[in-house]
Amino acid sequence: MNREIETKELIERAMAAQKRAYVPYSHYPVGAALIADDGEIYEGCNIENAAFSPTICAERVAIFKAVSEGAKCIKKIAIVAGEDMGYPCGVCRQVIREFGKDAEIIVARNTEEYAVYRLDDLLPHSFGPESLKGE
Ligand code: THU
Repeated sequence: MNREIETKELIERAMAAQKRAYVPYSHYPVGAALIADDGEIYEGCNIENAAFSPTICAERVAIFKAVSEGAKCIKKIAIVAGEDMGYPCGVCRQVIREFGKDAEIIVARNTEEYAVYRLDDLLPHSFGPESLKGE
């Protein structure tokens, strides 16, 4: 798939997932969609909880769905948050680090307005699996 079409498709899928967000507490819906090394697209939305701390972000839902289906490497992830551009939280950046060190991270308002980052832009000097191996 052509790069730009792939990016727009991921943003559309993230926007569709955002509509399914369960956000009775924050009222801040987030959607994410990623393409993994298996060629599949996985979507996620944030899912909140009355006890607050069990809440999980959209990005991690999408990533954990992918990994639980056998994918190990995220190639590209699109994120749509609130009504404006919302950047991934620190925990999600660290989880992207684990499964998508070289992933493109697309922070989008819609299919026309988006910015593309690499993880190194958002999480410089990161700690990852190689750090534990002394590499
Ligand atoms: N949230 C995400 O889904 N992704 C992020 O990267 C930032 C925060 C969610 C968690 C919570 O449901 C709501 O946004 C407000 O923090």
